[in-house]
Amino acid sequence: MTRTATLEIDGKKYEFPIIEGTENEIAIDIKVLRGVTGGVTTIDPGYKNTSSCESAITFLNGEEGVLRYRGYSIEDLAEKANFLEVAYLLIFGELPSKEQLEKFHSDIKEHSQVDEDVKKILDGFPKAAHPMGVLSSLTSALVAFNPSSVNVDSEDEMYNAIVRILGKFPVLTAWAYRKHAGLPLEYGDNSLGYVDNFLKMMFKKPNDAYVSNKVIVNALDKLLILHADHEQNCSTSTVRIVGSSNAGLFVSLSAGINALWGPLHGGANQAVIEMLEAIKEDGGDTKKYMTKAKDKSDPFRLMGFGHRVYKNFDPRAKIIKKSADEVLADLGVDDPILNIAKGLEKEALEDSYFVDRKLYPNVDFYSGIIYRSLGIPTEMFTPMFALGRLPGWIAHWREMRLRKEPIGRPRQIYIGETHRPFKNIENR
Ligand code: CMC
Repeated sequence: MTRTATLEIDGKKYEFPIIEGTENEIAIDIKVLRGVTGGVTTIDPGYKNTSSCESAITFLNGEEGVLRYRGYSIEDLAEKANFLEVAYLLIFGELPSKEQLEKFHSDIKEHSQVDEDVKKILDGFPKAAHPMGVLSSLTSALVAFNPSSVNVDSEDEMYNAIVRILGKFPVLTAWAYRKHAGLPLEYGDNSLGYVDNFLKMMFKKPNDAYVSNKVIVNALDKLLILHADHEQNCSTSTVRIVGSSNAGLFVSLSAGINALWGPLHGGANQAVIEMLEAIKEDGGDTKKYMTKAKDKSDPFRLMGFGHRVYKNFDPRAKIIKKSADEVLADLGVDDPILNIAKGLEKEALEDSYFVDRKLYPNVDFYSGIIYRSLGIPTEMFTPMFALGRLPGWIAHWREMRLRKEPIGRPRQIYIGETHRPFKNIENR
């Protein structure tokens, strides 16, 4: 039996179908609402109650702390898969066979050179520029060097655009860092794995050989998997909406990078470390900062806490916290801010302000501590998030294009002046 929802406006009733997802989530399908009611819309700032699309990529249940990519649990993927396998899974829907994975990696490597002229654009940035700004600009600039990558009507061309960006993005990310750090630009080594190669491009000193470290490669690989997708978050929704105007993949991704940069989204990982450092400098008084976070007249928020969807725990944060302990022990790093972070978490989990509002540590709370132990500087934390989220953005852009979704164009409720006569400048 088809389920329906009834809406009554001024005594008149309207029926709308209820649609159900494979995990029994339900939504009232109001596609025809405005037409049948003669102009009524819905309003939902922040889209807290709005499903913007149907998607088969990622499932998350915020009440139960469940996260799955294409049906596979994040716990299994973080433990048993590598980042490229997860990227393939997200984008194409199935885990790759050995041959498919090899071909995918080889196609990515084939496209991992960046046009030499991109270096001129990079040269134009001041050294102090934030790497996220540089990364979004260079990603956008890639269009100028790869014009054919925008033809989305052919699956072949779409595939080419996907392997191109997966090949070039780590180069651009590493270059954004090297520019910032005053290091000569480095091309990777295609005999290395995807993540190892990225680390080489980041850290190889001009006068030293690169020695790969398994602990570091595995830790970063896991972090990238944990960041790889999170359904309709702010940056992914941005990628989908920009792409919905038929804009190409690279510029849609560039828009996503900018959305991710904000401190309420991916920029929180940098903000968390800056906050923990500030607490340390201030004598380690966590209670003072807890009080500030609860004070509504103080703009301070406990960065790395809270989530729009998770109201129980963030499963990624659980894995990352465990991983932080292991990685720091493996690398022999003793970071005092790890203890400050654990102290803050303990206090928050016992404090009614945080408990009542269901505020738990999110993915960004412990990730920065691991990045730091891997030698990644603070301003590169959000670019790391972007590198991890890249397959998710691509998967959503591809899904949106294949489903031929309409251009994203919300309505509004106008609350400005009604019609008024124009005043000549002398009379204003
Ligand atoms: N510290 C103190 N109070 C908080 C916090 C926090 N971190 N987060 C939410 N609150 C309070 C908020 O003031 C509000 O209180 P009240 O009901 O009294 O007005 C209540 O909790 C609900 O918060 P909200 O801002 O309405 O919730 P939201 O779903 O709109 O925002 C959030 C979610 C993630 C933006 C928010 O929790 C936040 O700002 N957290 C800190 C930034 C952060 O860690 N962001 C990373 C998110 S996870 C990774 C990612 O998405 O990139």
